[in-house]
Amino acid sequence: MNILHQKTDITANTKKWQQAGETVCLVPTMGNIHSGHLALIAKARQTASRVIVSIYVNPTQFGAGEDFDHYPRTLDSDCAAIEASGGCDAIYTPASMYEDGHATSIVPGGVATPMEGEARPHFFTGVATVVLKLFTHIPADFAIFGEKDFQQLEVIRQMVRDLDLPVQILAHSTIREADGLALSSRNHYLSPADRKLAPLLYAEMQVTATQIKDGAPVEAALEKARNRLTEAGFGAIDYFDLRRADDLQICRFAAPHSRIFAAVWLGSTRLIDNHPL
Ligand code: PAF
Repeated sequence: MNILHQKTDITANTKKWQQAGETVCLVPTMGNIHSGHLALIAKARQTASRVIVSIYVNPTQFGAGEDFDHYPRTLDSDCAAIEASGGCDAIYTPASMYEDGHATSIVPGGVATPMEGEARPHFFTGVATVVLKLFTHIPADFAIFGEKDFQQLEVIRQMVRDLDLPVQILAHSTIREADGLALSSRNHYLSPADRKLAPLLYAEMQVTATQIKDGAPVEAALEKARNRLTEAGFGAIDYFDLRRADDLQICRFAAPHSRIFAAVWLGSTRLIDNHPL
């Protein structure tokens, strides 16, 4: 596997493959590769003849006091995990994506506005800006994102639509631990006691989705789930809500493409998850 650090090198590789008639799929990550990322890479391999994984902990999507300094940086074990699972054609891991004096950002509206947009106002500006820069460094035919961060996926789709970017966005369903906890690099932050409690979030999403499908009043079902999470020991609930999957607007009936979206604190860790009705 080629490990490249310079944008000129990764751009040249991408174009060389495309000029030879091959297709390229980008898997953007912040590293600390786990089975969720490996599933994205496996799908990328089925989609395109060449797969590039980017590994870059993007400072602009972290707010003041968030975990940028502590975010796990594990390049050697990431490369080993990717290699062991079948490899990819190149890993792009730039030292920085931002030149001194960088002063231009993408500020997404629309689907970026609710949920994470309210709880972490800097977040999608950072994500959209770095993903657009990645698409410039790597003019891939496809890019793939996990549904675990469903709102992020929708923000990227919206940006690609709005800015006419020549890349096709693919999604992969959330990969979970056996007990239901959605895989995330931040799960390492959970204490042993919190790790035991964490799967209750997904259990509550499943129960609530079933109740709503069976005709329970939506707001009452959501409120009961929020109360059960609080009683079980979860901290602040940023949101636990039913929204339409296409525009992420609040939904108060069992619409076909609606999902329950949740962001809940457990100790000092913020878990986010979503579940389709
Ligand atoms: O989902 C992530 O890991 C990041 O938000 C992404 C898309 C790689 C941008 O930094």
